[in-house]
Amino acid sequence: MIVIAAFIVGSMIYAYAYRGDARWAGFGEYVRKGWPLFTPFNCLLYLFTKPRARPAIMDIQQFPELKSLHENWETIRQEAVELMAVGGFDQISNKDSASYYDIGFRTFYKYGWTKFYLNWYGYTHTSAQRTCPKTLEILSKIPQVNGAMFSVLPPGGQLTRHLDPVACSLRYHLGLDTPNDDRCYISIDDKRYSWRDGEPLLFDVTFLHFAHNDADKPRLILMCDIDRPMSWIGHVLNWPYKMLMKATVVPNTDEDKRGFANRTFSTLVPLLEKSKRLKETNLAAYKALKYTVNGTLMLILAGIVWLGLEFLIWLI
Ligand SMILES: [Fe+2]
Repeated sequence: MIVIAAFIVGSMIYAYAYRGDARWAGFGEYVRKGWPLFTPFNCLLYLFTKPRARPAIMDIQQFPELKSLHENWETIRQEAVELMAVGGFDQISNKDSASYYDIGFRTFYKYGWTKFYLNWYGYTHTSAQRTCPKTLEILSKIPQVNGAMFSVLPPGGQLTRHLDPVACSLRYHLGLDTPNDDRCYISIDDKRYSWRDGEPLLFDVTFLHFAHNDADKPRLILMCDIDRPMSWIGHVLNWPYKMLMKATVVPNTDEDKRGFANRTFSTLVPLLEKSKRLKETNLAAYKALKYTVNGTLMLILAGIVWLGLEFLIWLI
């Protein structure tokens, strides 16, 4: 019990004060935006991560298993550009489309970011099989790819500073049709990188990062989740995260499967909108509802983290 409590506190101190170069504005910002509930479990995965995957931005030469992606970038680009030309990325702007309800990426919609899923943690999208068969063929030969999508950041678009909650995978970007301009960039742990057509980037999404496209052309990339290289204990521990990610399958079109999170989230959003109206008419009731929902979610997540740590102690 004391060991677990010490590990939880220690991991949060490490994530807040020592990991990487980019720092939070204060502890309050870390608590609100840093997903502290996931920090202990993420730190367990860092412990078992192989040295080549520990920096914020990895040396791509040390990941030869991904070579066939960047070598075939022109084939992949052709399918992505054709998809874009026929409006394949427009579905998320339609609230009637299930594609809009993406619990993992919804906060990025605000400034124009959009996406088209190719596959996601064991499921290959039927719509992608129809529109992007060559890309799927290339992806299918790389077992380390857990999920893939095309993503577009339009001129003037941005992703505000954040980190992703779970350390399940590393993130791979491949420039397909980009501005090739330093004004279109991502900052990862205070290191700036500008996309270039045909050039890969591999980084850890649990370091602070943000992106801007201040150029005058959209940025089109292939974005993949790559299995975090770890020892066998790390892979065993990562299993619950992978199950969690399987639940977050989001369809592009009606042809595709919907994950549990997508179904739940599409039901919850109209309720959330109603609750915003409640905020205007009865603030006390709104706050009671908000704290009950948030508290329940936190308890569920805390239970999952606790079970994971108990499991590790049992394992070692
Ligand atoms: Fe991110």
